[in-house]
Amino acid sequence: MNDESSTIEDHVEGLEHAARRLSRAACVVVVTGAGASAESGIPTFRDTMQSLWKEFDPQKLATPEAFDANPEVVTRWYDHRRLGCLAAQPNPGHGALATLEQHLADRGGEFALFTQNVDRLHQRAGSRRVYELHGSILEWRCASTGHVITPPPTPFEAFPPPSPFQPGALLRPNVVWFGEALPEEALRAAWEVTPRCDVFLTVGTSSQVYPAAGFVDIASQAGAFTIEVNKDPTPASRRVDVVLRGTVGRVLPLLVSRAFGPGVDGQG
Ligand code: OAD
Repeated sequence: MNDESSTIEDHVEGLEHAARRLSRAACVVVVTGAGASAESGIPTFRDTMQSLWKEFDPQKLATPEAFDANPEVVTRWYDHRRLGCLAAQPNPGHGALATLEQHLADRGGEFALFTQNVDRLHQRAGSRRVYELHGSILEWRCASTGHVITPPPTPFEAFPPPSPFQPGALLRPNVVWFGEALPEEALRAAWEVTPRCDVFLTVGTSSQVYPAAGFVDIASQAGAFTIEVNKDPTPASRRVDVVLRGTVGRVLPLLVSRAFGPGVDGQG
């Protein structure tokens, strides 16, 4: 295990070790969190309450109870974040995961990406097998009928936005709030593929919110080699085989290029 305060430059050995395991893997599973999108300019969940929103607690806004009690505030906050996600661009970390998936596909291997992010940046970077554990902020749904729409890339005109599907009903973001169930298909896929993977990566997540925080243990107990990529220590740091301390946008391109050859870290 690596010391928790150092950076990727101090851990060339860990990087090489992780790259070797990755280069031989037939099945790779990745879980990502808000840190994967930080270098795209999207504030992490726990850093999100800036400017106008600084007096709000995100844990309290991201609940069905908050929406029932104050749908105007909750939908304004989510629309503000939706527009930020639409304006953002994937960063080199997203690109490296898409490249990794392609390398595995080229040799008949398997790849699955489980994201807690709601911004769709993995898909925009070219990742194909992506499971959105917490839904997508780009979609909204009728709180009464469940119909899903993708609103245009402009702010809603009214808050809370009225549902076009039922008179008097409201639209809400198609995300998973605290206390709500995660999408069944994504969970089924996670329980199925995680115990089969050879290498498991936990990327840019504080590893505090379950079930995603527990995937690394499932993988590890089933014999996978586990890697954490994060700029800060997390509860998972002591449980993985290698910690690569640094930003996702820097570390992942290095790791994937070390594993599969140059070309993905912009260095030839
Ligand atoms: P968090 O905001 O809890 O954690 C982000 C993690 O990424 C932290 O460990 C940061 O240190 C790290 N980090 C930040 N920038 C980074 C960078 N550029 N490179 C590497 N690491 C970086 O976000 P999540 O773990 O995604 O759920 O949070 C999980 C869930 O909790 C969210 O999906 C959300 C939240 O409560 C719901 O809304 C249901």
